[in-house]
Amino acid sequence: MITIIASTNRPGSSTLKMAKYYQLQLRQKGIDAGLLSLEQLPPNLLQTDLYGKRSEEFAKIQTIITQTDKFIFIIPEYNGSYPGVLKVFVDACTFPDSFYDKKAALVGISSGKYGNIRGIDHFTGVCHYIHLNVMPLKLHIAAISKEFDADGQLVNTDTLKFTNEQIDKFIKF
Ligand SMILES: Cc1cc2nc3c(=O)[nH]c(=O)nc-3n(C[C@H](O)[C@H](O)[C@H](O)COP(=O)(O)O)c2cc1C
Repeated sequence: MITIIASTNRPGSSTLKMAKYYQLQLRQKGIDAGLLSLEQLPPNLLQTDLYGKRSEEFAKIQTIITQTDKFIFIIPEYNGSYPGVLKVFVDACTFPDSFYDKKAALVGISSGKYGNIRGIDHFTGVCHYIHLNVMPLKLHIAAISKEFDADGQLVNTDTLKFTNEQIDKFIKF
């Protein structure tokens, strides 16, 4: 099972738009992928789901993570790295079985020039620690506000080409 993680809880995020784009592209290639937005996390996760605690709300999310063997993380750049809520989410998931020996593709996005290069590197380090195998082709999509049309379709030729290549490689990964 494939799950796309929209790795922020910010309402109206470009991350969620990109996650929906990946889901649609996979569907057009005949693959049904789930989508988990970190907006769906319990709002008081810090109190309810860290350090051995488990809420009913998060238990449903944990089941999805446990059943997933391939993840696509769409990760926005926040203050030069990946969002803190993504690390809280990983910390809340059961260790080590949630991600151990599974596979992931990473996509960085930003409003600035760098497409979250540093945040993707930081998160790659975390993935290695939890034995989540990262696909070598990682994307960095900068100036995200110029990437979508009104229907949520990508408009830049290069971005279309590289996302398509990454999705094809991920299917075989
Ligand atoms: C808390 C926060 C920190 C941010 N820091 C950066 C940054 O360091 N570099 C950058 O290019 N954009 C930064 N941004 C802008 C995001 O890259 C931009 O909102 C983009 O649309 C992706 O994030 P989104 O999925 O929340 O929309 C930041 C946004 C937020 C909310």
